[in-house]
Amino acid sequence: MSRLRLGVNIDHVATVRNARGTVFPDPVRAAKLAEEAGADGITAHLREDHRHISDSDIERLAETLRVPLNFEMAATAEMHAIALRHRPHAVCIVPEKREERTTEGGLEVARQENELAHFIAPLRDAGCRVSIFIAADRPQVEAARRIGAAVVELHTGAYCDAHHEGHFAARDAELSRLRDMAAFAHDLGLEVHAGHGLTYETVQPVAAFPQVMELNIGHFLIGEAIFRGLPASIAEMRRLMDEARGD
Ligand code: PXP
Repeated sequence: MSRLRLGVNIDHVATVRNARGTVFPDPVRAAKLAEEAGADGITAHLREDHRHISDSDIERLAETLRVPLNFEMAATAEMHAIALRHRPHAVCIVPEKREERTTEGGLEVARQENELAHFIAPLRDAGCRVSIFIAADRPQVEAARRIGAAVVELHTGAYCDAHHEGHFAARDAELSRLRDMAAFAHDLGLEVHAGHGLTYETVQPVAAFPQVMELNIGHFLIGEAIFRGLPASIAEMRRLMDEARGD
């Protein structure tokens, strides 16, 4: 099986910084440390309300990272302009509601195909690999393919929540949907990524899907870094991913 990439999402370093309105902890310093600890990429979500990552964080990440930057953003004109200015390696289009605590669901691609196709074309032309964050639903996968996305990232949040809440039948049903849709998307020619809510307990069954090429993980890794430090937090995730993959 091909080596599974780990994208480390550093948004929640910025959450801690912004809780005090100071300049520390610096998410760019965390990104560099993650890079040294073996992250294959760094993911950062510039939300419309800029409540964690800021414009200047994105600018500094784009300038200083050696590994690819995966820029997560909503499909808005403002974010489009920022992405075209920095031309990150990857752009992941996510749904965004101001009142949500995190990205709760996947993007409704099927309902806005034309708009999204026009939105992503210039990003693709600028050399960005466009990824669409979706629920593991067949119509969403098909629509992502039709609008010309290169990648789909499957939302693993419902699977992880069900596991940590002890709803194991629901967890297994979610996992089976993820497995089927990873295979389906791959058969359509899409590159498959997955992420949201993944932890040491939930990562292995997803990492074992042969079609999945990349996992994007943030909140748990940053939280775990409080106890064991960021490099060790990442190293353990890497170890579990490799073990699941049979590497
Ligand atoms: N992938 C996408 C598309 C996301 O929006 C997020 C959260 O910003 C993640 C992965 C990482 O999720 P978590 O922080 O729960 O690991």
